[in-house]
Amino acid sequence: MKINENYSRLKDSYLFSEIAHRVQKFSAAHPDREILKMGIGDVTLPLAPAVVEAMRSAAEEMGRAETFRGYGPEQGYPFLREAIRDYYRSFGVAVSADEIFVSDGAKSDLGNILDLFDADNTVLIPDPVYPVYVDTNVMAGRRILFAEATEQNGFLPMPDKSVSADIIYLCSPNNPTGAAYSVGQLRQWVDYAKKCGALILYDAAYESFVAERGLARSIYEVEGAKECAIEFCSFSKTAGFTGTRCGYTVVPSDLIREGASLQKMWLRRQTTKFNGVSYIVQRGAQAAFSEEGRKQISKNLSVYRNNAAIICSALDRLHIWYTGGKNSPYVWLKCPGYADSFSFFDDLLEKTGVVGTPGSGFGKNGQGFFRLTAFAQEETVRKAMAEFERIFS
Ligand code: MLT
Repeated sequence: MKINENYSRLKDSYLFSEIAHRVQKFSAAHPDREILKMGIGDVTLPLAPAVVEAMRSAAEEMGRAETFRGYGPEQGYPFLREAIRDYYRSFGVAVSADEIFVSDGAKSDLGNILDLFDADNTVLIPDPVYPVYVDTNVMAGRRILFAEATEQNGFLPMPDKSVSADIIYLCSPNNPTGAAYSVGQLRQWVDYAKKCGALILYDAAYESFVAERGLARSIYEVEGAKECAIEFCSFSKTAGFTGTRCGYTVVPSDLIREGASLQKMWLRRQTTKFNGVSYIVQRGAQAAFSEEGRKQISKNLSVYRNNAAIICSALDRLHIWYTGGKNSPYVWLKCPGYADSFSFFDDLLEKTGVVGTPGSGFGKNGQGFFRLTAFAQEETVRKAMAEFERIFS
């Protein structure tokens, strides 16, 4: 028996497990200290009442012989795929229900999609970015190149003609920087991918936070993107499903590589390795798109947006450089007086009890930066920013 040696090339633990471990250790040593959690991007508001009601009634259906359901379609129930199709339509994007695959979340799909691709592909990944893209490719032993995201390019790297890649990751609005591509900028990526025959894996998990006109909610807002891009999205950040688990991936029928349909390959993969998301959860997800559900969810999103505004105005007062927060639940700031993100993390925790995420955990260009999430309770955000004012003014 031989193990996958690539695992030895990974960091010892996943970024957010490492943060949780440090916080746990601190709490154990200081049980009386209040911890102000603004680290992992985990929602804090409860599910929308329309979602809860739909799940309650689905659970009752499951308890009656006449309406009980066993295995569902691996790709997701048509009622949910059609609701997602209509959601895309509401911002002018045409995808068909057949192109939509419901899953237990974007993170799983982002990892699982790699089953479709040879290990001998070069992958281009922005730095800094959500660590899952790098880790899953390290596990598979792929060659990784980085697209440098820096303060100079507004943390939005653009295609470099001298670099050739087979698989390109884009995340917009970006985790962790909050920077979001315009449709015009994405067009340049689509043109580049088509020219070099590359496939774009587009993570749109934070699309519902896009507030400014001209910024993209989906890569399919670019004409021709269906020939070169797969899009991943999730109910986690939009509808508060981080613990409920539901997401979706769009694999267009136009995606043909080496004569093979990626959509058919993905269906083959999912029907073999995945048995679908529970009926109850899918009914809840469907309700997130109902009129009532949409209203309730947009109220929750505005609470998080308001939290981001509270963070930004405190940083403005303190003259601490930051970006994000406008089209994203994340605020990306320069560690005031620190070159090393983890030292800042440790000292901030020690002095104030505030937990954020060290920028260097997202890549080398994140060194010296720090991410705060707006997915916290308003009271926590206010207390945390009061601590910032106490320490840094
Ligand atoms: C984050 O904090 O970056 C996210 O919660 C991670 C995730 O969505 O898996």
